[in-house]
Amino acid sequence: MSDDRQEGGGRATTLDLPPEELEELGQRFGRLALEHLSAPEALPVFPETSAERLAGLFGGRLPTEGVGLEALTQACAEVFRQSRQNGHPRMFGYVASPATPVGAFASLAAAALNSNVTSWRSAPGPTRVEQTAVRWLAELIGFRGEGVNETCGGLLTSGGSMANLNALFVAHRSQARDASRKGLWGEGAPATLYASDQIHLSIPKAADILGLGREQVRPVPSDERFRVDVRALRERVEADRQNGLRPFCVVASAGTVSTGAVDPLKEVATVAREHSLWFHVDGAYGALAASARSKRALFDGIEEADSVSLDPHKWLYTPLGCGCLLFREPERARAAFAGTEEGYIKVFEREEAEAFAFWDYGTELSRPFRALKVWATLSYYGAERIAAAIEGDCRVAEYMAERVGASADFELLAPVTLGICCFRYVPEAARRELEDEGRREETNARLDNLNERVMQRVQRGGEAYVSNAVLRGRFALRASITNYRTTRKDIDTTLEVIRREGKGEVMSDE
Ligand SMILES: Cc1ncc(COP(=O)(O)O)c(C=O)c1O
Repeated sequence: MSDDRQEGGGRATTLDLPPEELEELGQRFGRLALEHLSAPEALPVFPETSAERLAGLFGGRLPTEGVGLEALTQACAEVFRQSRQNGHPRMFGYVASPATPVGAFASLAAAALNSNVTSWRSAPGPTRVEQTAVRWLAELIGFRGEGVNETCGGLLTSGGSMANLNALFVAHRSQARDASRKGLWGEGAPATLYASDQIHLSIPKAADILGLGREQVRPVPSDERFRVDVRALRERVEADRQNGLRPFCVVASAGTVSTGAVDPLKEVATVAREHSLWFHVDGAYGALAASARSKRALFDGIEEADSVSLDPHKWLYTPLGCGCLLFREPERARAAFAGTEEGYIKVFEREEAEAFAFWDYGTELSRPFRALKVWATLSYYGAERIAAAIEGDCRVAEYMAERVGASADFELLAPVTLGICCFRYVPEAARRELEDEGRREETNARLDNLNERVMQRVQRGGEAYVSNAVLRGRFALRASITNYRTTRKDIDTTLEVIRREGKGEVMSDE
């Protein structure tokens, strides 16, 4: 028996806990999670804190001896108190969702199992669950259905940025094969891709990472509703082609991050077809809203995409990080990633389903069991209840736009398409100044500055949290609603908070 073996056969240095301590660990962390899930408003949306305070609380030395369960759970509870509360009904910044209780506990269970979902061989059950979850997501957004895209497939990713990166890699490999064989840059003219000026930053970033360069993302103007101008798109592609460039892909937004605008997908699909471009839809923010009956028509044409990104960690309310990338023809992704199967990951299974590996369809090798939270969420709530929650979020955003429109001191800056409302605070004096054409530019600049300060005051106040967008050069307060807890009353309260902070700022400005 080696030195580190105890009499019972176990190792002296095991990290296992004795049964009663394991039970206590579960109770303590379970309670922490339950308290959080059952009282999302108990803590301010943003903590009253500072970098210095956090350094004092969590910046300590590496412990040489363990701290024990009591101290550990107390420290974790403090981390919760020092966090922004994404589950709070008045958290409107960026695209932040609460975690459903089902998603949160499914995540815990998946972490305990700790499957490495590389392939069927490594994780048979979890692989099948992920394949099913991906199929359900495709059905939910109308990307798959009877007669359309019956063989589509895909995989879960860490988020929308990763889904977009993988999509562009496959697009480039598929459409610009000759170039890729000759290295990243290929020979001859650069390969170009097209997207509206409202496209998410993850697209130019992906182009950069892939070695194409940000400048190869050719911006196309958007219309007054922030949707891509299809005529301009067509003209740009044609002009570039005539000038010897090699257009290979068009990216449409199914919900832009700033305003939630949905590009006319059918028309973009036609341009893609005409010019043999890969058609990618970035639906990271909005695609799941296709499940809401009143929004379905906006997404017509999504079924024609070659690939679609969508984020369960946004509008399926699953815990972070969970994105999804769908391919109309998964075999094209497989071809793009081919050549990675040699060596220690070689698969010996002969039956097709059992030889399945996710590394054939994306960049990751080791992958967490993300699918359990998606599969559990959809299994427990069902598609109808999820769609109703999304529908409810959209209704609340529409209500906010109504309230803004009906208030003399607010101005709506973009139409509400899905769950995002963009507006600004405009005090009476500024309103009068805006009527004077000669002073309009200067007044707008002052309003930009005022609203920026108002946003910061609101964020740090802890009662509500809005973020910002820049729309046609103007600073907008932006409220994004992907939270089934948010009510109309929360909207009224938030507008009151903004008004109050606005008045305070104007007074200090004068
Ligand atoms: C339209 C759009 N695309 C991509 C992303 C990136 O997604 P993620 O933050 O999951 O990487 C976002 C995030 O808000 C988004 O709104």
